[in-house]
Amino acid sequence: MLYYGVIMHNRVSFLAILACFALARSMAAQTPTLTVQVNHPIAKVSPTLYGLMTEEINYSYDGGLYAELVRDRAIGHGFGALMHWPVVARGNSLAAVSVDESTGPSAALPRSLRLSVTRASPEALAGVENDGYWGLAVRPNAVYSGSFFAKTDSPGIPVTVSLENDATGVIAATATVTELTSDWNRYAFTLKTGAVPITANNHLILTIARPATVWFDLVSLFPPTYNDRVHGNRIDLMEKLAALHPKFLRFPGGNYLEGEHIAERFDWKKTIGPWDDRPTHMSPWRYRSSDGMGLLEFLEWCEDLKMQPVLAVYAGNSLAQDHVEPGPALESYVQDVLDEIEYVTGGAGTKWGSERAKEGHPAPFPLHYVEIGNEDEFDRSGSYDGRFAQFYHAIKQRYPELQLIATAPVRSVTPDVLDEHFYMSAEQSFAQAHHYDNHERSGPKIFVGEWATREGAPTPDLNAALADAAWMTGLERNSDLVIMSSYAPLFTNVNPEASQWAPDLIGYNALTSYGSPGYWAQVMFSDHLGAEVVPANLEGAGPRVYESVTRDEALHKIFVKVVNANSNPCPLAIDLEGADKITPQAALTTLRGNTPNATSSIADPRAIIPVDRTVQVAGPKFTEAFAPYSINVLELSY
Ligand code: AHR
Repeated sequence: MLYYGVIMHNRVSFLAILACFALARSMAAQTPTLTVQVNHPIAKVSPTLYGLMTEEINYSYDGGLYAELVRDRAIGHGFGALMHWPVVARGNSLAAVSVDESTGPSAALPRSLRLSVTRASPEALAGVENDGYWGLAVRPNAVYSGSFFAKTDSPGIPVTVSLENDATGVIAATATVTELTSDWNRYAFTLKTGAVPITANNHLILTIARPATVWFDLVSLFPPTYNDRVHGNRIDLMEKLAALHPKFLRFPGGNYLEGEHIAERFDWKKTIGPWDDRPTHMSPWRYRSSDGMGLLEFLEWCEDLKMQPVLAVYAGNSLAQDHVEPGPALESYVQDVLDEIEYVTGGAGTKWGSERAKEGHPAPFPLHYVEIGNEDEFDRSGSYDGRFAQFYHAIKQRYPELQLIATAPVRSVTPDVLDEHFYMSAEQSFAQAHHYDNHERSGPKIFVGEWATREGAPTPDLNAALADAAWMTGLERNSDLVIMSSYAPLFTNVNPEASQWAPDLIGYNALTSYGSPGYWAQVMFSDHLGAEVVPANLEGAGPRVYESVTRDEALHKIFVKVVNANSNPCPLAIDLEGADKITPQAALTTLRGNTPNATSSIADPRAIIPVDRTVQVAGPKFTEAFAPYSINVLELSY
């Protein structure tokens, strides 16, 4: 029995082995393959492939990146001008706040806020407050730099400025300005917090303790900023951008460049110099821009993140079909652009370079790309061909080294680069992953200056990130042609009142911020760019699996990017043909979630984030299983 049993046991084992062998063979036959010809690069990867596109939309700068805490600091026009400036009348004090159209700190800002106090005392203060951008963040042990323009009918009257909590009335920091006169002047102050809790529900309050009239404008308060720039950018948002390793910044738009009407374009000369020389302007996204983020601030932002500017210049077309005919009428706009380029690149001895130097930046900025207009295919007058040519000839004559980008196809001259935009559903992004594979290579290079999978609000969900990543594999494989690309829009303040467009890559409120799944997909791609595209053949994986493989000879690295947008794991038999030695430990970074609509949010900022792990690879041929709904970068060393 025992013997029989052993035989039976051995027979069962033998049959089991046979079955396993057959299963393994059939699995091997079924396992999808990715065959990479490591030693036959087909193209250089554009080192500038990933950058940023930005404009004032969704409170991207005011109430976003630009760290100013005071909302509507320049007292605006008409109804709603004082919406964020309610009167303060404590105890039995009597006070009123109004817009005074007859006096302001400068010709550019001819109006101001008038605070008229008819009864007040140290026990019953009167004044005005500002509620910030859906809150005003206060942090412990921080130094806030403030200023305002003011005049008064009671010279020497002390003005007390404080950060006060909305709910508790607790003052986090306070300062007093005593030098007011009957003429407009600017006054600076500092607010220092102690061991206060971190809160977002605060306001800035300016009070006086006796009857008087005080006129205010350009009331401002900045927290510490990135690189300690005076009037600079929010640290958390700059750090998120820095992690994207962006190579360029396309600015200032977008529709924001064009404006709804010509007078509302980004008129760069009105965005430079001291704030009281900046009249502010209405953005096409239906709120007024402070223009604190002016031309110099954009350039300094580039400098801080080591990005090159892609300077988009107004080209005579605004959104409401207002356009300037090519010819003499366009000349002053062309001159404005030549002046703008001189402001960016000219030495401190040039007319416009000296204006930049006066503002504290004597060194010119590097500039290689100028984009002429924005989405000019929407100009129904058909004038873009002529307008582009006029700008092209004038710029090339004076700056032959500049690369000029057209925003729509033109016939009369050949642009150096063509900007193409793609806003897609997830289905479209997946379908377009091979869009550039067979594209004509003899024309202008391509800049995908705006693209996004539009799914999720306020920021993209995982499905959008999967589709974005599929699309990016196509950009990367074709980056001999597609030399630059930038997602749009970049930012949104997550307060629902702030949004004009969803989704946006990075979300924030007054206090904190988060990167969407789409943001992390871009971090992963740009962190592992590679220098050359190597041919890779994906077989048997079925739909919704995408790849791109690059190598970097100097770093001895191969980067295999795999997107699995399916609900099942995707095992891939990877064959790195021609690679003789592969380090057995490889780094695998994965962004994944359990469902396609999984996402991160301001309340759950780390719900979908990449996870790094080390995987063992047996050699140039190995199998790796990629998780359902996952974006993966496998970094192999050789
Ligand atoms: O990204 C939002 C808008 O989309 C841009 O301002 C415009 O260029 C495009 O139509």
